[in-house]
Amino acid sequence: MARELLREKVARWIRPEVRAATAYHVLESRGLIKLDAMENPYTWPARLKDEWLQRLSEVSLNRYPEPAARDLKARLRDVMNVPSDMDILLGNGSDELIQIVTVTLSGPGRSVLAPEPTFVMYRAIAEVHGINFVGVPLRPDNFSLDLSAMLSAIKKYQPAAVFLAWPNNPTGNLFDVSAVEQIIRSASGLVVMDEAYHTFAGESFMDRLQAYDNLLVMRTVSKLGLAGLRLGMLAGQSGWINEFDKVRLPYNIGVLTQVSADFILAHHGVLDEQARQICDDRQTLFRELSALPGIKVWPSRANFILFRTASDRVNDVFEGLRAHGILIKNLDGTHELLQACLRVTVGGPEENDRFLNALGSLL
Ligand SMILES: Cc1ncc(COP(=O)(O)O)c(C=O)c1O
Repeated sequence: MARELLREKVARWIRPEVRAATAYHVLESRGLIKLDAMENPYTWPARLKDEWLQRLSEVSLNRYPEPAARDLKARLRDVMNVPSDMDILLGNGSDELIQIVTVTLSGPGRSVLAPEPTFVMYRAIAEVHGINFVGVPLRPDNFSLDLSAMLSAIKKYQPAAVFLAWPNNPTGNLFDVSAVEQIIRSASGLVVMDEAYHTFAGESFMDRLQAYDNLLVMRTVSKLGLAGLRLGMLAGQSGWINEFDKVRLPYNIGVLTQVSADFILAHHGVLDEQARQICDDRQTLFRELSALPGIKVWPSRANFILFRTASDRVNDVFEGLRAHGILIKNLDGTHELLQACLRVTVGGPEENDRFLNALGSLL
């Protein structure tokens, strides 16, 4: 009876779109080789670690963090090449920035749009906030943009924001630059270029910010090797950033994150070298995956690779890898274009070898 009453109260007060949603689910990874979440497999040299710990020991945890995170923003501006006339907004991961943008633009009749399959949080955040999400399918063969479908959906729905992951997750490709520019020109709302994997692609829209007043560029430090810090950055015209800043909660970037990110970005050569290594290993992994029987592999500009198994084998392959101690991402059933698809993060050379050997034995 008490349980029934609670159920009624929840049904009455929790918004239906939240009740209909499922919480973001992360599989247990303890004891497994973790190739599911696009993390950097490397740590820092001992000398840097000691210096960092020294810096952390000087932090005043009894005080709130610097609210505008000025030092960190200056460091990011320098390392990420943000033009001097553009403003920066920081988020607790780029997930929080997607949420801030979506919530700020929400309202009756508003939509946000993205090609799909893509990063799932664009849709998930829109849906729990009751904002209409428009997903436009990518081309099934190579996951490029269907430009005419994108342009007609933009015309029809007049989205408040278009999110473009560049490179795209989980497909790994960069969309064609001139197609993206046509989208920016034809959208009356904002276009957010989500450059989470920028360091592995080496291309950016950052230097086009001055050319388009509806363009924003988003980056994260997660894929650079700092996923545990939770720090994302949105760069764009101050006219937009000032409005988003009103929706950001005060002190959203903790003092440990501010100090740690500032410290390691001052030594970003270490992270750049790790990214170079990951790009080299991506080549090897791609070549060796492509040589395995019965799978199709897509080229990637990011730190992960998408591949497809025979349709009746995908779950066996995924579970078989797990039994071999390797966790990757099973995308089967998440979108009709991802049938029998799996995504593997580029790990360290030994991890990649163990993955390839296990996969080879399962195929
Ligand atoms: C395209 C894209 N954007 C954003 C994110 C989230 O990044 P963050 O860790 O900064 O929240 C991811 C994470 O996988 C991603 O793939």
